[in-house]
Amino acid sequence: MGINIAIDGPAGAGKSTVAKAVSRELGYIYVDTGALYRTIGLYMTENGVDVESESELAQALDRIEVNLEYVEGKQHVILNGEDVEGRIRTAQAGNMASIVSAKPPVREKLLDLQRDIARENDIVMDGRDIGTNILPNADVKIYLTASVAERARRRALEFEAKGEACDIEVVEREIAERDHRDMTRDIAPLRCAEDAFVVDSSDMDIDETVGTILQIIYDKTGAGA
Ligand code: DC
Repeated sequence: MGINIAIDGPAGAGKSTVAKAVSRELGYIYVDTGALYRTIGLYMTENGVDVESESELAQALDRIEVNLEYVEGKQHVILNGEDVEGRIRTAQAGNMASIVSAKPPVREKLLDLQRDIARENDIVMDGRDIGTNILPNADVKIYLTASVAERARRRALEFEAKGEACDIEVVEREIAERDHRDMTRDIAPLRCAEDAFVVDSSDMDIDETVGTILQIIYDKTGAGA
């Protein structure tokens, strides 16, 4: 049984950056579960699957095999034998991931993969329902959040860094829409677990956020002490 750290929170709160840094510091494997939903979303988009049709969705899921591989500590999602890491990081894949992730058969399909990796390894796993649903007995649960305005500002900076134009108001609206969809879906909605530590990073930089979370983990588990 590995040590399991769950980090949940809304889109753009900095979960992946922070979870990566925390896992590196602890020497644990970082598991980015959003990448799994993005991969399913990518398959549905590329194959023109109507995800609102229960039968089409079920048939498509039967044709999909998703695995995780780690190369020099970096996660790669393998879709039917192909590494799709380079294709799942677009805003479109993120929105599609949010849509397919509300479908119960999609969540069902990804459940064991996530639990198996957590059972066998020391991990920092980030997502939306890790503390509430996937790993209810995680050793430490963090709910990492930030204001919508601050998350939109950070996303816009990321687009800028990639040389992509963006309208901050559109980014803010998309984030608010994604929050709403992720928080109000019937199955495993995004919410803060009762026993989670809430970290609001609106006024913290990455180092401060990582330091705050590491301190919580040290206090709770004695890891790194
Ligand atoms: O963290 P991300 O932006 O890569 O996630 C993309 C979408 O996937 C997110 O909007 C909701 C969904 N998701 C989920 O439902 N459960 C998770 N554990 C992780 C992501």
